[in-house]
Amino acid sequence: MQRNIILIGFMGTGKSTIGRNLSQVLGYPVMDTDEAIEQQEGCSIPEIFATRGEAAFRDLETALLASLHKHTGYIISTGGGIVGQPENRDLLKNLGYVVWLTADAEEIYRRTSRNSNRPLLNNDDPRKTIRELLDQRTPWYQETAHLTIETDTLNFNEVTTGIVESAQYHFSCCG
Ligand code: S3P
Repeated sequence: MQRNIILIGFMGTGKSTIGRNLSQVLGYPVMDTDEAIEQQEGCSIPEIFATRGEAAFRDLETALLASLHKHTGYIISTGGGIVGQPENRDLLKNLGYVVWLTADAEEIYRRTSRNSNRPLLNNDDPRKTIRELLDQRTPWYQETAHLTIETDTLNFNEVTTGIVESAQYHFSCCG
């Protein structure tokens, strides 16, 4: 198996953790788009949102995705809003096998309320924001993903095994 496995999904669906698990199982390095942008820009995502605005961050995401076209054998873990730009959806599909991790709104609220490093949820009613963004983004995730995995009912190892088996099948028949 080669090419890349790309993890998409809303904040708090476990992309980073599952990415690290997949990396251990397959021996592929992880590329986390949020971390790559932070390293490249020399500041945190909340700082980028605060000083340059969300649109600037979205442009950085698109530029980063476009720069990855020669990468193979990576686990690519993405920020939850990366599917918002139509060109990003095409770039993601062209990078390899795209896996959408899902969780329901209440579970996402529970998981994301543990820390405050997500600028879009730093407001008076993060539950409402989660519901609204989920409604808006769900068709974009659906359109982009080759595989969907519900993370509420499965443990991390089950999710990881499911992805590895499906990706092996995908790459064996579709290249
Ligand atoms: C965002 C999700 C974050 C990060 C930024 C914006 C979003 O990544 O890219 O705060 O728009 O959903 P995670 O999904 O890894 O939290």
